[in-house]
Amino acid sequence: MSFRTLDDADLAGKRVLVRVDLNVPMEAGKVTDTTRIDRVLPTIREISQKGGKVILLAHFGRPKGRDPKDSLKPVAVALAHRLGQPVIFVDDCIGEDAAKAVAAAKSGEVLLLENTRFHAGDEKNDAAFVRALAANGDIFVNDAFSAAHRAHASTEGLAHVLPAYAGRTMQAELEALSAGLDNPARPVMAIVGGAKVSTKLELLGNLVKKVDVLAIGGGMANTFLAARGINVGKSLCEHDLLATAREIEEKARVAGCEIMLPVDALVAREFKANPGHRVVPITEVAADEMILDAGPLSVAEVVLKLDTVRTLVWNGPFGAFELHPFDTATVTVAKAAAERVKAGRLVAVAGGGDTVAAMNHAGVADELSYVSTAGGAFLEWMEGKALPGVEALRAR
Ligand code: 3PG
Ligand code: MG
Repeated sequence: MSFRTLDDADLAGKRVLVRVDLNVPMEAGKVTDTTRIDRVLPTIREISQKGGKVILLAHFGRPKGRDPKDSLKPVAVALAHRLGQPVIFVDDCIGEDAAKAVAAAKSGEVLLLENTRFHAGDEKNDAAFVRALAANGDIFVNDAFSAAHRAHASTEGLAHVLPAYAGRTMQAELEALSAGLDNPARPVMAIVGGAKVSTKLELLGNLVKKVDVLAIGGGMANTFLAARGINVGKSLCEHDLLATAREIEEKARVAGCEIMLPVDALVAREFKANPGHRVVPITEVAADEMILDAGPLSVAEVVLKLDTVRTLVWNGPFGAFELHPFDTATVTVAKAAAERVKAGRLVAVAGGGDTVAAMNHAGVADELSYVSTAGGAFLEWMEGKALPGVEALRAR
């Protein structure tokens, strides 16, 4: 690794600003999945045990200015619980209150400062805001790989004004992803699912040049199907992107990348648990039906394909996996991938918020080669793009 890690940092008595990703799913004020919290515990504990003051910086949601619904306060509660140690919550990430709380904290104590995005300067990577954040720290540790695709003050700017180090999760993510993907064993297959083509357009366009097979699932598959002239009924579909879908197919053809789309589907008239549903060939979706999962033939094709590839990178579920039975395709393929990893025949790396949830649901999160908590950062990394948060650490 060409950047410094906690092994290189002198932490005792230092004020350590630690960027973490605590952008966790939340319902009614309660954290519903603690994966991201759990991933940063080793870094927090290590700094604390080595006598540093742990000053956590994080964003939550995409607020425009201060907005109570995006406060990190409930996250502080969940973090303290998982950590088994008090977490001092501070109402602002800069200014007098933050300075006082940091000064008052003892070595080894943990503070969480309020959402960095309550200040526009974070996303703007504004120099004055970077200085205001840096005023509370002696060194900077970035443990937020999943936010490293953002060139923000708290993810990138700070690394230029303070001695900067990669935290343990950042380090683990980079090591695992490099091992799986820098020189992947070929053929390489990518599975990209999720709701919308629009959020992953660039990814798809770049990915077809890098992988040998691209299986498209989820809502975005519908856009590709519609672009091929197939009637997708009431399914989620971005009808304004049909030309784009065709362009991506053309790029794939030129690059020699095979695109796999569902050949059959589970369809229903309503989106709810256990609605009346049926399995249909993809060309027979009725006008009032929605495609909610890939069908059994499609799943069989993907599973067969897994036997011919050596590396799998996966982002995004095949169907509406949060509702049974529309989790079937995702769960079946996940289990098939896990079996092949166990047999030493496949390297399988999965990433993304929904994807982590889907792999947990399938019970294979610990059985794949690596599961990244990163969504957007994982995708950009998959495309081979430089991540500003990682590059800033390297530069030091
Ligand atoms: C994520 O949830 O993917 C990361 O925390 C980044 O969040 P963002 O997409 O709002 O920058
Ligand atoms: Mg996101």
